Amino acid sequence: MKFFADTAVIAEIRELHDYGLLDGVTTNPSLIAKSGRDFKEVIAEIAALVDGPVSAEVAALDFPGMVAEGEHLAQIAPNVVIKLPLTLDGLRACRHFAAKGIQTNVTLCFTANQALLAAKAGATYISPFVGRLDDINLDGMDLIRDIRQIYDNYGFETQILAASVRTANHVKEAALAGADVATVPAAVIKGLAAHVLTDKGLEQFAKDWAKTGQSIL
Ligand code: E4P
Repeated sequence: MKFFADTAVIAEIRELHDYGLLDGVTTNPSLIAKSGRDFKEVIAEIAALVDGPVSAEVAALDFPGMVAEGEHLAQIAPNVVIKLPLTLDGLRACRHFAAKGIQTNVTLCFTANQALLAAKAGATYISPFVGRLDDINLDGMDLIRDIRQIYDNYGFETQILAASVRTANHVKEAALAGADVATVPAAVIKGLAAHVLTDKGLEQFAKDWAKTGQSIL
């Protein structure tokens, strides 16, 4: 399973990139607003830093607006993926970009039928929002499992990008459910490496090593 960082903060992206933990980045209008930075400038900076796909979301709600904005964003860098909302206009724009060979990420997916429509529209990625379904007392991971089954039934190549992933358990469950990618906040990705017994074991090893009086170099 690939890891995308769900952030528009350059320092976080650079750190994950340096650790070799990053396969791509997703942003959304809320993350851009939180960064306080110019949208196109920040996307250009991320796209130059990261080898993989970088999702940039259109703001328009209608088909002509999405096409105009998406075409503009696609010119920023070859690894920019156009993020489109799961609406009828968004699906139409998805089909438009797919025909032009431009990668798309269809976002705000909350049902398997929405994911089916996105695959039929030629989406590169579908983003089911796991955490936001959990927020309303549904099981977001059921949606990942359903989409996996439907896509496998018909051989759709659209990649399942588990989104609104907020915990280490979400990451594990998404991997078990067969998501192709999980987009995850930087702190959660780094947290995956942590375990109390790892820390405890290291502390003991360091103490015992000191007793030997040896040095490796
Ligand atoms: C993904 O593309 C979305 O930007 C993101 O995962 C939403 O996460 P949230 O529900 O925690 O805001």
